[in-house]
Amino acid sequence: MKYFFANWKMYLDLEESCAVARSLVGLSFDERNIGVAVFPTLLALAAVRDILRDSAVAVGAQNVSWAPKGAYTGAVSSVLLQAVGCRYALVGHSERRHIFGETSDEVRKKLAAVLDAGLVPVLCIGETQADRDADKTTYRLKKQLMKALDGLALGDADLLVAYEPVWAIGTGVPCGAAEAEAIHGWIKQEVKSYLGREVPVLYGGSVTSSNVAEYAARSLIDGVLVGSASTKIAAWSEFIANMSRASGAAL
Ligand code: PGA
Repeated sequence: MKYFFANWKMYLDLEESCAVARSLVGLSFDERNIGVAVFPTLLALAAVRDILRDSAVAVGAQNVSWAPKGAYTGAVSSVLLQAVGCRYALVGHSERRHIFGETSDEVRKKLAAVLDAGLVPVLCIGETQADRDADKTTYRLKKQLMKALDGLALGDADLLVAYEPVWAIGTGVPCGAAEAEAIHGWIKQEVKSYLGREVPVLYGGSVTSSNVAEYAARSLIDGVLVGSASTKIAAWSEFIANMSRASGAAL
């Protein structure tokens, strides 16, 4: 199983999000081999869910509150997201950590809240350029994983990890597939030491419809989390065709 997750960030407004969603309704892919999900702005989430209701494309949230319900002005919880048909939630995306100052403690609380609500968390981790320059990639990832997963009661629930090097996000400079795969192998073992089992690990950072096949073809890369390139309607058929071909899946 390979995953193709589209993080629309704050690129598309309500109308634009619905337009991309409508273009995905007839998208042809084998859902037993490829899991597709879109992560629209919260403003468009319910509308996009309605448009995709009878399709094989799932919907996820880009961010959640750690609180479940109540007097939390401006917050949106996993419980509320679950009620509108949301299936996944990104937790700890680097833009949340680095632009909005989200702490490891918050990441951990959000992870627990997402699981409590029955959503599937996509835990995002990644090193900065400074970490990389200082040869501290695994040090940074180890810390992020430990703070998020140590003692987490996952039970039978699903969890995915997205490896997204901060230096590769939105820069047009992706981490090469061979290097990413080696890191994915390391992440899988590290996660297993906390959870007792392996979980899918997706790669994210400057993935395009032209380079997606390089990642999808790697056995330790379970899929991709794509930002800006996934907001273009025209790119989707090529994305799915290349994912299918590279992962050996039938169209
Ligand atoms: P990008 O973003 O594909 O625009 O680099 C990826 C992400 O942040 O999830």
